Amino acid sequence: MINVKKLSKNFGENEVLKAIDLNVKDGEVVVIIGPSGSGKSTILRCLNLLEEPTSGEIFFEDQKITAPNSNIDKIRQKMGMVFQSFNLFPHMNVLENLTITPVKIKKEDPAVAKQKALALLDQVGLKEKAESYPSNLSGGQQQRVAIARALAMNPDVMLFDEPTSALDPEMVGEVLTVMQDLAKEGMTMVVVTHEMGFAREVADRVIFMADGVIQEEGTPEEIFDHPQNSRTQDFLNKVL
Ligand SMILES: Nc1ncnc2c1ncn2[C@@H]1O[C@H](COP(=O)(O)OP(=O)(O)O)[C@@H](O)[C@H]1O
Ligand SMILES: [Mg+2]
Repeated sequence: MINVKKLSKNFGENEVLKAIDLNVKDGEVVVIIGPSGSGKSTILRCLNLLEEPTSGEIFFEDQKITAPNSNIDKIRQKMGMVFQSFNLFPHMNVLENLTITPVKIKKEDPAVAKQKALALLDQVGLKEKAESYPSNLSGGQQQRVAIARALAMNPDVMLFDEPTSALDPEMVGEVLTVMQDLAKEGMTMVVVTHEMGFAREVADRVIFMADGVIQEEGTPEEIFDHPQNSRTQDFLNKVL
């Protein structure tokens, strides 16, 4: 589904990504771990062209999205993105947050969009909050709404950038549960997280990044139980 070839990204002199190769298959859950500043967010942001790669190619569903004539808006609609900060529209209630983009951008029928939004809220356990405003929700609830809002666009892949890092500890679990359910349903997901329990349980493949390079990748068992690279071993010793 996603095919990244020799992706590099520089910010001035700073080489943040160094010729990254990455493939994500349909239905696969790839979890990216690694120290702060290693380029994890930059990879995700390059995947949906929030950042322009310095060099390299990215293919999404066999379209070369780094081509000069690619339809970026159309591509982004197929990639849901969830950030650390929830970024809900504060002046809209939950239902409006979920329906505004499908109705305005995809020209969905408002009644259809509303039915779909309610089903998605049910899926993330928040049907009773449809009329609430973001400021009246907890952080965990807001993040679940943000996930539902991304799903409302019917994406083919979901990108998560540390979705639980801004949450109080007692709210982390409810968000991870929603993500785990999504993975079970077969959603293709690329997840940057420090939640190693989630990575071990849900990932099909774990990628360890440091210094803008994929240092090691493998199954959760390979990475967590038998890391080969000393950088991976050091990192896991610190976080586990
Ligand atoms: N917009 C930007 N301008 C300049 N430097 C940036 C920008 N975004 C990220 N960086 C730098 O790129 C490096 C990798 O950042 P990032 O991808 O956010 O790492 P991670 O998500 O792994 O913590 C860091 O050194 C960061 O300071
Ligand atoms: Mg980051």
